[in-house]
Amino acid sequence: MCGILGYVGERQDNLATFFLEGLERLEYRGYDSAGFAVLDRNGHAGQPPNGLPLFKEVGPVGQLATKVGRSQLPGSIGIGHTRWATHGGVTVANAHPHLDCTGSIVVVHNGIIENYQSLKQQLLDRGHRFTSDTDTEVVAHLVEEELASANDTPDYAPSDFAAAVHRAFRQLHGLNAIVVGSTEAASLALFRLGSPLAVGLNGVAALVSSDLPALSAYTDRVLLLDDGEGALLTLDQPPVRLDARSDTLKQQHFSTRRNGHLGSARQSDPPWTHSACTTPPPVADKGAYPHFMLKEIHEQAEVLARIAAYPAAPISTAAAMIERAFGTYFTACGTASYAALEATYLFSHLARKHVNFAVGSEFYFLEDFLVPESLLVAASQSGETMDTIEAVRAAKRHDSQVMALVNVPGSSLTRLADYVLDLYAGPEKAVVSTKAYTAKLGVFLLLAYTVAGEQAPGRAVLQQASVALSDLFSNGLDKQLRRLAGELAAHEHLFTIGRDVNYPTALEAALKIKETSYIHAEGFAGGELKHGVIALIEDGTPCIVFAAQDRSRAAVLSNAIEMRSRGATIIGIGPEREDVFDEYVHVPDVGYASPIVSVVPAQLLAYHLAIERGLNPDKPRNLAKSVTVK
Ligand code: AGP
Ligand code: GLU
Repeated sequence: MCGILGYVGERQDNLATFFLEGLERLEYRGYDSAGFAVLDRNGHAGQPPNGLPLFKEVGPVGQLATKVGRSQLPGSIGIGHTRWATHGGVTVANAHPHLDCTGSIVVVHNGIIENYQSLKQQLLDRGHRFTSDTDTEVVAHLVEEELASANDTPDYAPSDFAAAVHRAFRQLHGLNAIVVGSTEAASLALFRLGSPLAVGLNGVAALVSSDLPALSAYTDRVLLLDDGEGALLTLDQPPVRLDARSDTLKQQHFSTRRNGHLGSARQSDPPWTHSACTTPPPVADKGAYPHFMLKEIHEQAEVLARIAAYPAAPISTAAAMIERAFGTYFTACGTASYAALEATYLFSHLARKHVNFAVGSEFYFLEDFLVPESLLVAASQSGETMDTIEAVRAAKRHDSQVMALVNVPGSSLTRLADYVLDLYAGPEKAVVSTKAYTAKLGVFLLLAYTVAGEQAPGRAVLQQASVALSDLFSNGLDKQLRRLAGELAAHEHLFTIGRDVNYPTALEAALKIKETSYIHAEGFAGGELKHGVIALIEDGTPCIVFAAQDRSRAAVLSNAIEMRSRGATIIGIGPEREDVFDEYVHVPDVGYASPIVSVVPAQLLAYHLAIERGLNPDKPRNLAKSVTVK
């Protein structure tokens, strides 16, 4: 899931500044470790093992910055990486970049090389020395071998280098993006399959990144590479587009100028000709809030108001696709999957329509029932979640239609889908998702109302939910949840229950609490307790009960009483206080938008539990914002 960053261009006085800033923007893709190398030939001296300045450190980019200290690293070529470990522990040795035996080939990678064990064994048998436990390192040694077998001398041209990287890339199984640097060729060669890569140009440099945010500070000219595409970026030469979809490497020039200074794109720069040109999203900051999570929780009233005013045409088109489809399947992962599950309830109640749901990571095991008339609706904040993308690929294999609800414009999912609905939540920076979740709930609600022929009432309900959220924030909701977090922070276990439209709310509330506070929280459908879960309830076990003003209310309150009879402490969230509640959190009755307002107290509780336990809610351990591996 790593973040990749590369630079080839005008010599900078200190490339360390560029990499530390850029990698910080990519940290949401992984923050187990970070590293970068400057590749200028003969530009630096004395740093073992190869003379290249190469810095790696475990932990977030801030720790790498401390290690780099005041080092000035002038240079014109470099690559950097933030890692979310898949193969090999979180150590400095396993941090990227990785080197070949000669120390002149430098590699960063995103993905999983599924056949790395056999490749590594063959390379070891041929005498290569490995210094890490990663799958990534095989790429450096494969390129080293490909170069040696094709060239009699140690000197080789950039095109030879690109060809060697192409041959190495073709040996990898799985979904991977690689960026390989060569000091000899003064070039970066990169390829992608599955994992994203984008090339950006400004007047003075060619840049590569796994994502747009790191490029957006330097250029708004971005070329998103398609599967099987790549690029060769060489010092003092125009960039070359590479096509790795066959055994023969195809190369095609696109032009740019190299003068001026590293900075934002200039009017006179040549325009991109590729159809996937896009404008990078704005970079968010925390404003007056101590954490992005808290800021994004508070932004939800505004996001909901925006969705209440969603342009009519795209919603109607999407609703017509659902009406026409012979079988509609909703899919997504993690938090987004709970929004997709919610859609099944909303379509049933509002549109009297049966739709199906499966989590993204399981969807492709269920693909056999898809036909060209089927519709897959994939929901994703990032648009880069590999499990969701794989579900989309499964649908495409059956020529089914694909609709995507995505928050990040230009992301992989937006390019794969036949039809895209923007979530309009704005940049979501906290690793845990909050406003993108309620945005998805909002769009699904509007779609269900539209399929029922009642778009205007749908908009009214969303507007009502937006106002309700603003009121809750101004009436001390945050203060109440902060106090409650203080009381609950020492607990090891916590349960959440809901029924009907608030069953997904219970699942999402538990996930939020787990992610931020590491308290073991589990969400259940209230009716399932008696089938086993109730065995876990002990004296004082905290249980959050979502009790909306709907037809499931009496049933979920009975479940609350069952738990209280066994000693549980009941925290009720809903429009009316009940005797069974030991603690009551009021949220108004907003009809089918109930899951939107009900989840917000749980988000705030999760936030304050993290603070109480001395954790950073924006960056929980072991997680990454964009989960771009299977
Ligand atoms: C939730 O807080 C996240 N940690 C995670 O579950 C996320 O929702 C999931 O990975 C899906 O991400 P997406 O919406 O970007 O596809
Ligand atoms: N498999 C590589 C590693 O473990 C890259 C991981 C990733 O893309 O997240 O270092």
